[in-house]
This record gives sequence, structure tokens and C-alpha cells, in this order.
Amino acid sequence: MKRIPVEASRKYDVLVGYGILENAGGYCREVIEPCKALIITDSNVEPLYSDTVTASLLNSGYSVFHYVFTAGERSKNIHTLTAILEFAAENRFTRTDIFVALGGGVTGDIAGLAAALYQRGIRYVQVPTTFLAAIDSSVGGKTAINLIAGKNLAGAFWQPSLVICDCDTFKTLPDSVFADGTAEAIKYGMITELPLFEQFEHGSISRDLDNIVTSCVNIKRRLVSRDEYDRGARQLLNFGHTIGHAIEKLSGYSISHGNAISIGMVMMSRAAEQMSMTREPCSKRLSRALERHGLETECPYKAGELLEAVLGDKKRSGDEITLVIPTRPGKCRLHTVPTGDIERILELGLKRGDE
Ligand SMILES: NC(=O)c1ccc[n+]([C@@H]2O[C@H](COP(=O)([O-])OP(=O)(O)OC[C@H]3O[C@@H](n4cnc5c(N)ncnc54)[C@H](O)[C@@H]3O)[C@@H](O)[C@H]2O)c1
Repeated sequence: MKRIPVEASRKYDVLVGYGILENAGGYCREVIEPCKALIITDSNVEPLYSDTVTASLLNSGYSVFHYVFTAGERSKNIHTLTAILEFAAENRFTRTDIFVALGGGVTGDIAGLAAALYQRGIRYVQVPTTFLAAIDSSVGGKTAINLIAGKNLAGAFWQPSLVICDCDTFKTLPDSVFADGTAEAIKYGMITELPLFEQFEHGSISRDLDNIVTSCVNIKRRLVSRDEYDRGARQLLNFGHTIGHAIEKLSGYSISHGNAISIGMVMMSRAAEQMSMTREPCSKRLSRALERHGLETECPYKAGELLEAVLGDKKRSGDEITLVIPTRPGKCRLHTVPTGDIERILELGLKRGDE
């Protein structure tokens, strides 16, 4: 098992390995004394992994409660959040107790926000069960729900006390959900680590998942420790996300996060090439790598449709928006543009290189 320390406003470890869910309670006990633990999970993950985590927590002296919500992005809303908070209050959770987020990024984001809000903040443990949650959403303390106006528009920075990532849980993921995580992993390679990108371009990943998770968490840990509150370097992690969030919203969340950011990354790369901002072309290499892993790369919406949703994204500040621009595979940089330039950038992003 690998142990990756994260230095943020709260210090914690990310544990990465195979078969480690059975000892979840033991790992929790290393950092949190036995107390009440509320396992928050969704309707798909509950039948798969809740018993294992529950048994381990009970064996380690915790008393265990469960809150299960309907799986899916549409549940990441204020109603689920309120229901979790009410459940914790009805069961007399106090600030010495914990929440355990068992599931993918939706579970982690909503349970993390509930932890940030409940009695002004209680500790929580992330137990990611999707590839995406393992490499991205479980680490770094960004928590959120979606509002009708858009993705992740209400949230808080609230770091977990521990992250337990058992790569064996990926074995039960539907291919399309695994592919969503692949999009984020390819993003990590594109923004800072060429060898990681090349592994997705040419190599095999299935037998190397713990190492890939470790590489991605290491990149995220470095960015979070430099810029926990997302005002500078951490924004590199948003590569493809401004357009991606707009696509998710326009599709009513029927296009998954991974496919949406996959399209967003390709569009930003095409636009950057046509604006002569790249030192090396990268959009074709990027789209081939993404398609090799079953991800979408062509946008079903027009620039005008995307524009409004992009302008509603929280990455906008006043009349400017900060974009992540690839300069070559393995290197991206931040670039702030007036919002008036966005439609043109979207149009360029929609043009395939061969047109
Ligand atoms: N907080 C952050 O920093 C951050 C970063 C990236 C993404 N996100 C958020 O993460 C969310 C996407 O996360 P996701 O792709 O994990 O979605 P998800 O949590 O909805 O999980 C995807 C699907 O897989 C199912 N599932 C989860 N684990 C499983 C397993 N082991 N076996 C079988 N099925 C399983 C879930 O029930 C769900 O149906 C988005 O809401 C996105 O905004 C947050």
C-alpha cells in the first residue's frame, strides 16, 4: 500500500492499494478515535461495498449509520444535501463524529459539503470507488452541489481527514464510468506529465492502476499544497472544465463529466493551435488518446449554445475568464481573456484541424 501525504489547511494521507477496504476501520482509527460514523453512499455502491466498510468500522469500535441516496449526478443537489444534514441531526451527530463518503465523485462532493456545513464543520473520510474520484475529487477538499444554473455552484473548501483508495473497487465499474476517470488521468498527463500522457497514448493501464492513481494524486497534492484555494496554479486542473461544465449542463447531465471534459480539452487544444499559442500541435494526439479509451471528442453543441453556459461557470471573474491552454502535450498554462473573446474561442475549438 502507498501512503501519500497531503499538506493543506488540514494534513492527511491518501492510502492507495488493493484490498484495503477490509481494513478501512483500522486506517480510520489511526487518525480518528472511535465515534459515530455516518456512511454516505449511493444506491449503486451501497450493495457492493457498504457491508465491508461497515464491518471494518464496527470492528474498530465505531458505531455506524447509513445514508443512501439515488445514484447519479442529478442527486448532487440541495435536496440531497439537506436530507443528509437532517439525518445527521436526527441521529444526534456531534462535532466529534465523522462522515464517511463511500462512492464516486458525486458522493464525495456532496458528503464533503455536508461535512463542511454540519455544525460548522465535522471531519470526514473519503473512500473513493470510481477511478475519477480516486485520482481527483477525493483529494484536495473541493466540495460542492450543483444549482439549477450550473455545476458545482455552491460549495466549500473542506479537506478530508483521510482518503482510502482501494483500486479493487474499480473492477465493478461500468466501462463508461471507468472511462470518465481516464479523461481526468489524461488531463493530468496533458497539464504536467508527458510520460503519464504517453502511457494513455500507447501503453496498457489495467495492470498499473495503483501507480497511475499515485502519479495523479501526487500531481494534485503538489498543486493543492501550492494553491489550496484555487487562485493560481491549482487552476491548471481545470483544463477542459470550463467548456466541459457547459456541455454537461446543456445535456441535462446526460453527457458524463469525463466525456464532457474530454470534448472540452480537445476544443481548447484546437483553439490554442489556431491562435498560435501552442509550441507543438497537440489536439490530434490528445483526441487519439481520448478516443483510444472510449471517450467522446466532438461537441454536439454550437458556439452560441455553449457561450451562455460558459459565462455562467464559476471560473469567470467579472469580465474575464481564466482558461487553461496547452502549449504542448505535458505542459499547460493559464491564460486570462475578456469574456468578449469566448465565442470566437469556442468557434475555433469546434473547427476540426482538417477543416
Ligand atoms: N471535488 C472535486 O475536486 C472534483 C473533481 C472532479 C470531479 N468532481 C465531480 O465528480 C463527479 C463525477 O464523479 P464520478 O464520475 O465518480 O461520478 P459518480 O459518483 O456519479 O459515479 C459514477 C457512477 O458509478 C457508480 N459507481 C461508483 N463506484 C462504483 C463501483 N465501484 N462499482 C460500480 N459502480 C460504481 C455510481 O453509483 C454512479 O452511478 C462530478 O459531479 C464532478 O463534478 C469533483
